[in-house]
Amino acid sequence: MGGYLQLFCIAASVISIAAAGETRQLGILTPPASPAPRINSPARYGARPGRPILFKLPVAGRDPISLDCSPLPPSLAFDRTTGVLTGKIDEAGEYSIVFTATNAYGEAAKSVTFVIGDKLCLTPPMGYNSWNAFAGGVSEEKMRIAADKIIELGLDRHGYVYCNIDDFWQKNPHAAEDDPALGGPERHEDGTVWPNSRFPDMKGLADYIHSKGLKAGLYSSPGPYTCGGCTGSWLHELQDATTYARWGYDYLKYDWCSYTQVATGAEREYHTRPYFLMGRFLAMQPRDIVFSICQYGECDVATWGEAAGGQCWRVSYDVKDRWEHVIERGPRAGEKNWFHSKPGCWNDADMLVLGRTVWSNGRLTQNECYTHMSLWCMIASPLMIGCDLSLMDEFTLSLLTNDEVLAIDQDELGAAAAPVLRGDGWEIWARPLADGSSAFALVNTANDEKVITFSFSELGMRGKWRVRDLWRQRDEGEFEGAYGFSVPAHATHLVTFTPLGGAGLKPCLKDIRDNYWRIPFDRDRAKAKDAAAPCNACD
Ligand code: GLA
Repeated sequence: MGGYLQLFCIAASVISIAAAGETRQLGILTPPASPAPRINSPARYGARPGRPILFKLPVAGRDPISLDCSPLPPSLAFDRTTGVLTGKIDEAGEYSIVFTATNAYGEAAKSVTFVIGDKLCLTPPMGYNSWNAFAGGVSEEKMRIAADKIIELGLDRHGYVYCNIDDFWQKNPHAAEDDPALGGPERHEDGTVWPNSRFPDMKGLADYIHSKGLKAGLYSSPGPYTCGGCTGSWLHELQDATTYARWGYDYLKYDWCSYTQVATGAEREYHTRPYFLMGRFLAMQPRDIVFSICQYGECDVATWGEAAGGQCWRVSYDVKDRWEHVIERGPRAGEKNWFHSKPGCWNDADMLVLGRTVWSNGRLTQNECYTHMSLWCMIASPLMIGCDLSLMDEFTLSLLTNDEVLAIDQDELGAAAAPVLRGDGWEIWARPLADGSSAFALVNTANDEKVITFSFSELGMRGKWRVRDLWRQRDEGEFEGAYGFSVPAHATHLVTFTPLGGAGLKPCLKDIRDNYWRIPFDRDRAKAKDAAAPCNACD
């Protein structure tokens, strides 16, 4: 095991295990999958009354697995072979269904509450998006292969269900000369958007994705053109929303590019108008369409994204597979916005850059990949896989499919992490979880191995806590007074702390994140504090 533990109770001396100047890489930490069934569904699922439900129960374990559920509302049907639940519920309310999964190695059961109301995405959406894998080279065929691969690789068994086309399914007058497949009229005579010739059958594609129990997504921009110069939705917003629904799409990523050419009004109006418009038109459709706002965090999107009808909003510029991006873009924006995150409202730290992308064969080190995945889960970001699934490697797959790590992202409390302690070359992020425990990420931002340690009193923690290492999926033991771990350069150690009898936080702390307000920061904390819920941190 690469991750030798440096554990100690109260203060004890700690020995670093990396030789000077050497960068220890973590290798694969996720243990081999257990053959016993495990139901990886989040505990709550949101849908609107009367809209079609397509819910694929994520179940890991060795086939054959027999599935069952009870009680099943009469308007729903459950396919016991595929684990796909379909139908609709007309009456708003909460409907709990207990799913069971049984095979030769054991049995698992999980209660999932279907919350029929006005909220979608009660946990961050998970899936695949074509941009980082193919950029402008995407095609219907590549999307069909991606859907096949989600199933073949078993990604659906861990919760990845969206299969989303990014830019370049539309015509592109700017690129048509070099690439005739992108040429031709951008819209039909009645104004309906006309996909490029690489996408001959948008409805057929959505049907194909749905036939696998997955959900289909697409992309547009509120300006005349998208970021890649394809047809945008300007002056066709309602028609486009209606078309997406008619084709059967479940998710719209709505960018910003070229809207500046047509935007009017003062700052707030300038930045928000197209999203309020499209959000309203999507909500009018007879199917649930997730609205993913993509304007890079401008004008404090997290403060109005929900009102605009969004379920998630990008909070940073594009993240590429570079360490500076992974440690700065998503996380810093997550730090600025964590208190806006809640079920149905997610800060989007951008798509994952793990594995082979269109730009490279993976420029992040293994350690950096751990930090990327750990922090995205701590931030409660949507998790959109961004690599070419046909070229999936074992290491990347192990990062994407660690169910204990994914469970942090999908925790039903929806309380995104905040930094709670920071030192020279390291930081600790923490978030409370629905079961009363808290997740901690010990992040080494330095270029050498570091023992990251903290005393419980620094974070207002009292009593004895059980610690579990999530990447390695093993208990570390019981700790009182202090905790530390030797984390190699640019890596992250991800753990849960569960309070044992009588343990807990000082009463003056609402949850572990209140410690955020006690550490010195180099950013505009006063502004953040004003925007956050009243803070009751104690000294
Ligand atoms: C922007 C977005 C990316 C991607 C491209 C497509 O850069 O931030 O995620 O959608 O546009 O052109």
